[in-house]
Amino acid sequence: MSKQTIPTATHMLMPTYNRFPLTLVKGKGSWVWDDEGGKYLDYTSGIATCNLGHTPDSVKDQLEIQLDKIWHCSNLYHIPAQEQLAKKLVENSFGDQVFFCNSGAEANEAAIKLARRYAQEVKGNDGYEVVTFSQSFHGRTLAALAATGQEKIQQGFAPLAKGFRYLPYNDKQALEQLVTDKTCAVLLELVQGEGGVVPADEDWVKQLAELCKQNDILLMIDEIQTGIGRTGTLFAYQQYGIEPDVISLAKGLGSGIPIGAVIANQKAAQAFTPGSHGSTFGGNPFSATAGLATVTHIIENGLIARAAELSTYLEEKLQRLKQQFSPIKEIRGRGMLQGIVVDDNAIDYVTKAREQHQLLVLVAGPNVIRILPPLTTNKTEIDQFISVMERVFAS
Ligand SMILES: Cc1ncc(COP(=O)(O)O)c(C=O)c1O
Repeated sequence: MSKQTIPTATHMLMPTYNRFPLTLVKGKGSWVWDDEGGKYLDYTSGIATCNLGHTPDSVKDQLEIQLDKIWHCSNLYHIPAQEQLAKKLVENSFGDQVFFCNSGAEANEAAIKLARRYAQEVKGNDGYEVVTFSQSFHGRTLAALAATGQEKIQQGFAPLAKGFRYLPYNDKQALEQLVTDKTCAVLLELVQGEGGVVPADEDWVKQLAELCKQNDILLMIDEIQTGIGRTGTLFAYQQYGIEPDVISLAKGLGSGIPIGAVIANQKAAQAFTPGSHGSTFGGNPFSATAGLATVTHIIENGLIARAAELSTYLEEKLQRLKQQFSPIKEIRGRGMLQGIVVDDNAIDYVTKAREQHQLLVLVAGPNVIRILPPLTTNKTEIDQFISVMERVFAS
């Protein structure tokens, strides 16, 4: 392994991250290079973001063209790429209208605001409460943080934004507590990513969706990690036989260029009117171009079907790994979002993979190794990944 040079100004960054001792300077496809020329297989995809692999040509070409045109102009003017991206998202989902922002947390903020305004301005009641679930993760801004059902992430930020209530995930009985006269929406991950790669139970989701429908409570799916082909369909909700009112997106939407979005049906979207919400950068010409090129590439190249097929191959190999090594307790996930549940510290395996075998994977909580290959990976790379994991577990 190459010797790493740690940049000298790290101490000038606020210590919000425990960074690995690795400086990545280049990426192509499933591979990244450090500042000493060391090459790594990247099965993190920048935390479920580089779904087309690093620096995909189809996106790069469009961005290069856009760089010579205009980068930013604000949302006071029409932005063709933003409107084309909205059209692509609407045509390929349940939705009717889209709001663009810059990140996942902002997308959830917009969704939460939309839900409250829908209850208060459209339905005419004082519903403000959003139901979320234990171990969920919805982002770090104040409302997204309050929506997040994990105390450790909320610690030190009191008072939290009011109006959130948490129910246990995948618990049918707890659904009895879902509806109150204050409930305006449910915000739900269909695979809890940060919370340990935990897929939602299909019957539970259907029951929950039905309750929302009966009570005119907005069903809002947080697709920030699961969206843009990550779980085997363009959006994870498409595998659950449900129709949400709202979904939030970010991560994979721009291939690494920051962009977030909220897609809503007409019923919910009408709650926003001029001046009720906004974002200076949201969907600007540059980020919208990245989003449009990304979604176009995924759809036009049949990447979702290909990735779904590859993920079956990956899952089979992971199941075999489980049979070989007793510390592995479970393999769980959907599509290209997989977790290896171990009975000891996941970070030790992640560190060994990186330091000894130049493989990048992540953790999701203390005992889950999280695997997020780009949708563009192939069987050879999957075999390489498995062979490294075999060596990691054998040592
Ligand atoms: C499900 C989910 N929601 C929201 C977020 C927050 O996104 P961002 O970090 O872009 O604000 C994340 C990020 O990991 C996520 O996985």
